[in-house]
Amino acid sequence: MNKILAIDDLSVNLDLIRFVLTRNIPDCNVFTAISGKEGIRLAKEVQPNAILLDIVMPEMDGFQVCETLKNDESTKHIPILLISAYMQTTEDRIKGLDIGAEALLAKPFENAELISQLKVLLRINRAEEQLRKKNESLELFIKNQAEEINNNETRFLQISDYAHEFFWEVDSKGKFTYVSAVVENILGLKSEEIIGKKYIFDFYRAVSEKDESKKILFDIFKDKSYYNNIEISCLDSTNRKIWLTISGFPIYDKTSDFIGYRGVTHDITGRRKAEEELKKSLLKIKEDHKKLKRLNAELDVAEEKERRRIAEYLHDGIGQLLSIARISLSSLQKKSLSEDVIKIVLKSMELLNEAIVRSRNLTYDLSPPILYELGLIPAIRWKLNQIESNNKIETTIQSDVSKLEISNDTRILLYRIVSELLTNVTKHAEASSVKVNIYNENQDYCISVHDNGKGFNDADGSTLKNGGGFGLSSIRERLDSLQGQLDIESKINKGAKVTVRIPILNN
Ligand SMILES: Nc1ncnc2c1ncn2[C@@H]1O[C@H](COP(=O)(O)OP(=O)(O)OP(=O)(O)O)[C@@H](O)[C@H]1O
Ligand SMILES: [Mg+2]
Repeated sequence: MNKILAIDDLSVNLDLIRFVLTRNIPDCNVFTAISGKEGIRLAKEVQPNAILLDIVMPEMDGFQVCETLKNDESTKHIPILLISAYMQTTEDRIKGLDIGAEALLAKPFENAELISQLKVLLRINRAEEQLRKKNESLELFIKNQAEEINNNETRFLQISDYAHEFFWEVDSKGKFTYVSAVVENILGLKSEEIIGKKYIFDFYRAVSEKDESKKILFDIFKDKSYYNNIEISCLDSTNRKIWLTISGFPIYDKTSDFIGYRGVTHDITGRRKAEEELKKSLLKIKEDHKKLKRLNAELDVAEEKERRRIAEYLHDGIGQLLSIARISLSSLQKKSLSEDVIKIVLKSMELLNEAIVRSRNLTYDLSPPILYELGLIPAIRWKLNQIESNNKIETTIQSDVSKLEISNDTRILLYRIVSELLTNVTKHAEASSVKVNIYNENQDYCISVHDNGKGFNDADGSTLKNGGGFGLSSIRERLDSLQGQLDIESKINKGAKVTVRIPILNN
């Protein structure tokens, strides 16, 4: 619907215009005003698509009305057709166009001329309207974009202000063109102090002359390559050593010319310190563990000495006393004593014999003298004999080594280890035979204990974790102190072969 406002001080003219317009322009709504003031008011209120304005009017003439409308934001876009009552001078026409009227029409005019001029104005109005709408939506779009950019920038600045990393940009010569403010928390330098300077190492120093980091960064810059998490260390402005990771990528302009680098530098000093602390703690744990092992070995030796002391006391003290008591009692046998007394003497001698056997066994169990007097292989042989008579297990021993060149302590340790392995066989294996083999292999002494029992699945010590005892793990610990090792080969129902190895040298 086209809205047209006609302003004229003569109502007859207004009626004529209404008549002509409604007949010739479809969809036309004509508003009329009888004075300039009224016309301005209506123009603001109705927002017509075009205005027909008579020049000659009392109080406010058409020029004044036109000027007012063209100076008002709400009406300046409405096209105006000035209509003069008589043939005007050229100056008047120029004046009309100067103050912003879109067209001029002199009376008397043909209706067709009025209509065609008006149609042109309506077309102008429509085109302007479309342009205005486009402009408005463009303005809105730009405003939204600007807001979005603004938000992103605020977000980026907020995040980058709290992060342990700073963003930067250098130009093709390596000069800093941007550095985010966090750089101050990391390097102790304000971004203004860095912008304009060249290369990172020119304003904060490498820890040592030999430091490769500087060269690495130069090479990357030369190659114009991408780089990711390059780790460097350097000194900050207070000479504190810090660790950084640097990532960056080359940037190019629209014509693919290299224009610099953009990247991020991350402060990993906290993490590196924690890692170093962890390393230190692990080292300390390792050292403590070593100490513990040494202590264990010393404890083993002390325990062995104590066992030997008790064994000697049993053998030389109690054993001797028991033997003397038996000799004294046996001298009574020769005396003429009553039958009852002789019975008691014989019973007592029987008990004394038993006590002597038991104390001897205990002595051997505690510390078999054979180990000290004849060595490891005879001691193991003796142990196997004990097992055979007590457990109904057939035992064999084979040795390719005539004499083991080992220290006293090592001999005792190996004896205890083999005893533990044999005890395991009697305790767990349900075996009918066990074989001990002693041999040399690749500069090692090896002793294997091989049974034909039910076997077990414990190559990695998992039996222990699942509720097994301390025997095997304490063997491993003891062997560690001799730089030795324990190998277990076993399958369920296929027996077990446990081999102890120690290097021939050093022991
Ligand atoms: N020769 C073997 N045959 C079958 N199973 C064995 C044999 N040796 C060890 N095992 C298995 O391995 C487990 C661990 O043995 P380990 O000597 O470490 O502990 P333990 O004998 O159970 O207890 P501890 O030795 O502390 O008295 C045993 O519980 C047993 O299940
Ligand atoms: Mg055991």
